[in-house]
Amino acid sequence: MPDLVLHAVGLAKAFAAPAGPLPVLVDVSLEVYAGESVSIRGSSGSGKTTLLQLLGGLDQPDAGAVQVAGPRGLVEPRTCLGQGVGFVFQNYQLMPELTALENVALAARIAGVPSALASADARELLGLVGLGDRLAHLPASLSGGECQRVALARALINRPVVLLADEPTGNLDERTAEEVMQLLLAIVAARGLALVLVTHSREFAERTDRRLVLSGGVLSPA
Ligand SMILES: Nc1ncnc2c1ncn2[C@@H]1O[C@H](COP(=O)(O)OP(=O)(O)OP(=O)(O)O)[C@@H](O)[C@H]1O
Ligand SMILES: [Mg+2]
Repeated sequence: MPDLVLHAVGLAKAFAAPAGPLPVLVDVSLEVYAGESVSIRGSSGSGKTTLLQLLGGLDQPDAGAVQVAGPRGLVEPRTCLGQGVGFVFQNYQLMPELTALENVALAARIAGVPSALASADARELLGLVGLGDRLAHLPASLSGGECQRVALARALINRPVVLLADEPTGNLDERTAEEVMQLLLAIVAARGLALVLVTHSREFAERTDRRLVLSGGVLSPA
């Protein structure tokens, strides 16, 4: 039996709104095992991004709990310091004033890796995603697909066991989306990573091991 690498139980989250609290997640539980890929679809506003942010520790639930696999077993995502979970966002979220190499290395620096080692790791990962000849490019001089490859390299640099990807191809044209998705799935498979993929694409969802839908604040099988 593979290890449990992401465990969410009874997550609830509401946001303040003028007419009172707006419940977005009502009761969400999710177990993801090592090497497993899971897709989450759901209409716009159903709470997919809200859920991924809770899973990655970027926001806190009103109720329930999340644990992810850290270097020493399951822990709250916040205590992993970016090491257990890697994030890929729809709009890349790169630092505009940093080069591709610096963007990737920064994530390792924040996690405490010495500068020379962080740069060497970043260089290697940018090679892996096919950008070995774009190390010194700023995001503004990279295409959308290239920016997302940089973001993928950044998500990998702290050796996560789970990748959380929020519509990672949502801003890309069809062909580039296909290329980036193929790369993402190939890296996840080659490294034995678990993947939680939020996507609007039925076709991309079909390529994951398990398909879920978020609706009415709960997750259910697609
Ligand atoms: N910080 C916030 N404050 C108030 N409301 C919020 C906040 N974040 C999200 N919401 C609301 O929560 C709901 C779910 O938003 P969320 O971004 O999670 O949806 P989504 O499923 O990711 O949508 P999309 O497919 O368009 O990305 C929306 O109605 C949104 O307006
Ligand atoms: Mg979203």
